[in-house]
Amino acid sequence: MERVFSLQEISQHNTKDDLWIVLHGKVYDLTKFLPNHPGGQNVILKHSGKDATLTFELYHSTDIIDRFLPPEMYIGQVEQAYGIIPSNKSDENQEQQQETQEEKRIQLARETMPPIEEMFNTFDFQSVARHVLKESAFAYFSSGSGDDMTMRENHNAYHRIWFRPRVMVNVSHIDMTTEMLGAQVSFPLYISATSFCKMAHPEGEKVLARAAGKQGIIQMIPTLASCSLNEIVDARVYPTQLQWLQLYINTDRQMTQRMIQQAESEGVKGLFITVDRAIVGPRGKSANDKDMFEDQGGMEKVLNHERGTGSKTLPSFVDPSMNWKDMAWFKSITKMPIVLKGIQRWEDAVLAWRHGCAGIVLSNHGGRQLDFSPSPIEILPEVIDALKREGCDPSKDFEVYVDGGIRRGSDIFKAIALGAKGVGIGRPALYALGCYGEKGVEYLLNLFKTELAMCMRLMGAPTIKDIQSDMVDTRNLKNHYVANPIDYLAKTTYERLQPRGNLSKL
Ligand SMILES: Cc1cc2nc3c(=O)[nH]c(=O)nc-3n(C[C@H](O)[C@H](O)[C@H](O)COP(=O)(O)O)c2cc1C
Repeated sequence: MERVFSLQEISQHNTKDDLWIVLHGKVYDLTKFLPNHPGGQNVILKHSGKDATLTFELYHSTDIIDRFLPPEMYIGQVEQAYGIIPSNKSDENQEQQQETQEEKRIQLARETMPPIEEMFNTFDFQSVARHVLKESAFAYFSSGSGDDMTMRENHNAYHRIWFRPRVMVNVSHIDMTTEMLGAQVSFPLYISATSFCKMAHPEGEKVLARAAGKQGIIQMIPTLASCSLNEIVDARVYPTQLQWLQLYINTDRQMTQRMIQQAESEGVKGLFITVDRAIVGPRGKSANDKDMFEDQGGMEKVLNHERGTGSKTLPSFVDPSMNWKDMAWFKSITKMPIVLKGIQRWEDAVLAWRHGCAGIVLSNHGGRQLDFSPSPIEILPEVIDALKREGCDPSKDFEVYVDGGIRRGSDIFKAIALGAKGVGIGRPALYALGCYGEKGVEYLLNLFKTELAMCMRLMGAPTIKDIQSDMVDTRNLKNHYVANPIDYLAKTTYERLQPRGNLSKL
């Protein structure tokens, strides 16, 4: 018989070692799950012994519990569903006051934000997002790992590639269409997977699906989406719209298999397995923010992992034991083409080819994992050379994608010139989504298209096939200390202009 708990009893289980939470009138014992929560421990601790439904719904899809929580964590019903669990009133009042203050700030910022027509480049969205998003959301999105060296380098590396424009070419018509994994797209860019999109917009990934569909490009659906897979698939603007799935391999392989097969049956056309996140990287800004993502990848998590105190019996979102031997199993359970996302050296690119992958994404997770991993664009030429040495033709047999720091149409051009099939964007789509919703994402994609078309025209390359490696000068690409002019646009957008927290009152 199902157990029924009183509110009073639930509120007693409110510590790290004994932690119950109510979601939709159901009681869960999350004590063992706590160290594995991808959003960090604090947000769960904050709601221990209480009803967390409202906060849960802000960030998660309704089916995420069934997908990721082992059934034994469900322990029973609340005696009266959706009851509010008594809590410490003074803590709650303080939290409410802070939230109201932040809501007022955001409302004011939204009333005074510039019209969308004043977004002249991708950085403009970022500078508006800083003001109109919750501080915790902006910190989560904009965070890199460590000293943000890799995150900044991802974009800066593009500044070390200069053009060799071709003139006297008929560029009266520009055709940006191309193919990705055999499907036609309107230009060589896709929206990469970013978890918890509801932090940017209440409809999260559904909005990205609609905008991508209208602009004729592909959306990569994250494992940790805020909307359910069904919802994101249903948001397609036409039945054949293309979507890929980004996959974190769970320690519970059955869970992983179910997700892959559900995606495949829903018509998802590519499986992008993330390979650069054995554990969460130490995220600077979001780790400093005393909010829900406080301990994402913080020291505690790293130490627990090292000491092996993180539960071994529990499924963890990412299986740190994943290795090349698992490739055979991945291939046995899906017909979707498999692409490895997060390759960071040519040797691994060659291994991915040898293991029968359809392609790779050169990516360092937008600089959120290992600081000082190289920018994807820097390693692209050596990856292409190595693949060719192996007898692989990257223009036909194997697709090489690049993401990280793509902020201009000219960045897309440079990546294509150096052998990429296409590029992915993460943060720009999140910022556009957070500021102006669907209209914003479409506007952003149009900015990229306009800039790429302009670049192709001025470079004398009327089609994607005309973009060749002799059109770029990469002599400085490996040299990290060339005298580049300072990128003030990116710099002022990236750095906080306001002091933080209580410092602003001093
Ligand atoms: C807020 C945020 C969340 C992300 N979540 C995921 C994720 O769940 N899975 C994944 O494979 N990559 C994730 N990424 C990495 C992106 O897919 C992509 O590699 C990266 O954002 C590209 O760099 P860019 O943000 O400079 O465009 C995330 C990136 C950001 C900024």
